[in-house]
Amino acid sequence: MQTVTLNNGVEMPLLGFGVYQIPAEDTERAVSAALTAGYRLLDTAAAYGNEEAVGRAIKSSGIPREELFVTTKLWVQDAPAQDNTRRAFETSLTKLGLDHLDLYLMHQPFGDVYGQWRAMEALNREGLAKAIGVANFYPDRLIDLIINNEIAPQVNQIETHPFFQRADYQDLMREHGVQIQSWGGFAEGKNDLFTNPLLAEIGKEYGKSVAQVVLRWLTQRGVIAIPKSVRAERMAENIDVFDFQLTDEQMAQIATLDTGSSLFFDHHDPEMVTWLAGRRLDS
Ligand SMILES: NC(=O)c1ccc[n+]([C@@H]2O[C@H](COP(=O)([O-])OP(=O)(O)OC[C@H]3O[C@@H](n4cnc5c(N)ncnc54)[C@H](OP(=O)(O)O)[C@@H]3O)[C@@H](O)[C@H]2O)c1
Repeated sequence: MQTVTLNNGVEMPLLGFGVYQIPAEDTERAVSAALTAGYRLLDTAAAYGNEEAVGRAIKSSGIPREELFVTTKLWVQDAPAQDNTRRAFETSLTKLGLDHLDLYLMHQPFGDVYGQWRAMEALNREGLAKAIGVANFYPDRLIDLIINNEIAPQVNQIETHPFFQRADYQDLMREHGVQIQSWGGFAEGKNDLFTNPLLAEIGKEYGKSVAQVVLRWLTQRGVIAIPKSVRAERMAENIDVFDFQLTDEQMAQIATLDTGSSLFFDHHDPEMVTWLAGRRLDS
């Protein structure tokens, strides 16, 4: 598996497996199948409610810990967040059955962001989180966080797919050493992504599916992708994307699909902010 080197030297796989919206009772089977298919980067979150099942799949796989790259995410914490963040981290670690994380992400740019980040910096310094980063940070929030703290995020995991490509933002992040990671790389199938005529036509040339073209396009741009599927045949399809190369012309054609805005929700919409920022997890 190809890797990227994060700004602190940590190596991270360019492609992994996401478990959002996989019910807890199905997650152990799905993650076991993904590990069998060859995925080594796993992406979960406290808010997904399936960390324990991810942990069981890791344990039963017998794969050496150093071969895995495990990410989970901190949910929004109240101020002062330093103790709350450490507690939330320890809860996640216990549920996953691990003694360290490869990447710990702040899931949303809400709550006591600075308290959360400083606690995450401490976890990073102590070696408990080998890399730390954020998710869903728009440029204004990201730059402010970088300016006002010691450690710049290693990763920013943001909505990135053919209809919302984030190319300018990727350039800005690159300037600051922040690695872009895509969530919703298939836009969860919105806008009829899987039957898009342009992507299908490009795929035909290589004997590849639309899903494979999208993952090749993301990874060829240096964007880390974490497709989700509960089906073993799709898991195998989605990891089989490193034996072909899109041409510059095809990359330029795919660039025309960009709508420049989210297909999910607007992190600047007061109603959405109120909902996300107000949500608390039970434990
Ligand atoms: N940080 C955040 O706020 C945030 C937000 C959303 C997601 N994420 C992360 O990003 C990961 C990926 O995003 P996502 O789960 O939202 O959606 P996604 O990967 O864009 O799309 C998943 C959907 O595509 C289908 N699919 C997968 N492979 C396919 C294939 N080869 N052909 C046709 N359909 C296929 C899946 O169906 P089946 O399962 O039935 O195959 C599922 O319905 C998440 O799992 C999570 O880890 C993070």
